[in-house]
Amino acid sequence: MTIISRFRRQNPAARVPDSSPPEGVTRRISELMARDAIVRSGEDEVTPAVTSSAKGTLPLRSRPLGSVPASEKGWPPGRSRLLLPAMALATVGVAAVCLAVFVNTTPRGFEPAPGDNVAAPGFDTSQAPPEGSTPEGVPPPAEPETPDATAALQLGDLIGVSMPWQGTQNWAGPNSYAAHFGPALEAAGFEVVVDDAGNDSGKQIQQIEAMIAQGAKVIIIGAVDGNQLGNVLDQAKAQNVIVLGYDRTIDGTASVDGVVQYGAFATGVAEGQALIQGLEESGAPKPWTIELFAGATDPNAASFFDGAMSLLQPMIDGGDVVVGSGQASFADVATQDWANEKAQTRMESLLTSTYTDGIGPVGVLVPNDGIARAVLTACEGAGFDLPVVDGLDAEDISIGWVRAGKQYATIAKPTDDLVVRTLEIITHLLTSPELPAPDFTLNNGVKEVGIYTLEPTIITQANIDDYFPCSDATDSEQATNWGCE
Ligand code: BGC
Repeated sequence: MTIISRFRRQNPAARVPDSSPPEGVTRRISELMARDAIVRSGEDEVTPAVTSSAKGTLPLRSRPLGSVPASEKGWPPGRSRLLLPAMALATVGVAAVCLAVFVNTTPRGFEPAPGDNVAAPGFDTSQAPPEGSTPEGVPPPAEPETPDATAALQLGDLIGVSMPWQGTQNWAGPNSYAAHFGPALEAAGFEVVVDDAGNDSGKQIQQIEAMIAQGAKVIIIGAVDGNQLGNVLDQAKAQNVIVLGYDRTIDGTASVDGVVQYGAFATGVAEGQALIQGLEESGAPKPWTIELFAGATDPNAASFFDGAMSLLQPMIDGGDVVVGSGQASFADVATQDWANEKAQTRMESLLTSTYTDGIGPVGVLVPNDGIARAVLTACEGAGFDLPVVDGLDAEDISIGWVRAGKQYATIAKPTDDLVVRTLEIITHLLTSPELPAPDFTLNNGVKEVGIYTLEPTIITQANIDDYFPCSDATDSEQATNWGCE
């Protein structure tokens, strides 16, 4: 299904969709992420830093999102070119103020000229966007004074966005890629086609083929199955299309140029960390009996599981954690198609097969919010005490469940920030033949793929009011889901 058939610049109706992101929420997340996200640096190397007294006081990330030097983030030269006049103007502004004070006149303040981008970094969503830039956090079209003949992209080029499905909130609804990508790319001066594959890998391949045929210069892909795209991506490469993975990696092919995501391994570490933290806070005596759930089939599912197990496996080996059912391999615990009902059925059967004395597991590792709620619903329905569960995606209903103490945690990885990060990479190509330097590389089985990354944030009852205060709910439905009414 084509969700947004085409955002054409000449179609003003397409510019600001009704489903634009809830204002304060997303910006607030960006600001707060800078304050207390999980620690990670360079590679997928995360400091677990889990302590029993850690409720709500997550370790500080290595540095705030906005503070990474441009050179390290691989920001585009175009960006620096915009900043230089800004700095010059700022210097002039400061000098003017000094002069004004010196001669005892009233300074008029420093007013950037419309469109000069001084206050419009755009890539840093912790700052308010400039007037006239829409949607939130997206820079106005980067009109190069003279088109750069060596650049990989020109304004007006077609960008294809191929997304996997709409089964979870990060892929659907007002705060999804669909709500952000079209308007963001269109506002940046590109033509856009956005497709949703309905969780069908074959359909996704056809949609990508169509994008190649339409002349897309860049194709952004949230893979249904990251191992099935090799042939179609070879076709894309033959046409010099730049291929970017979005949220999910693309494996087993040389025809991928980069991936923008919340580090998948780091996200899994955050899930494991949240589970362990919740178990410590629960006061349950060790050894803790737990169960494990993963997703499938996209590559994130295995990476999330690996990340979580990097913390849990040593505890299993050391005897502090026991997997009650003994089902501990990825293959044993993967939930096909991320289907919540399959997870609920598996949990129900685990309860009847393994926990015959009526005492359930004290904790369950889950890969996302939908599966968290499925597990909790199974336990509730069977009359068991609710286990500690983590989550992922900060879905509205799970925000309510975390606020109420029913779901211990969720992990926030805001979609709008990921879209802005992707925009940063694409607009770089207006002034360069090459992608910007990635944050790190990951081997996809065939090549080292550059990863452009953001950091996920653990949300628990202790910090939920910082990240999702009721005052930020956009309407009464969201307020209800958030547990505010
Ligand atoms: C995404 C998660 C999402 C899951 C199911 C994963 O690839 O990273 O955010 O919950 O897919 O849609």
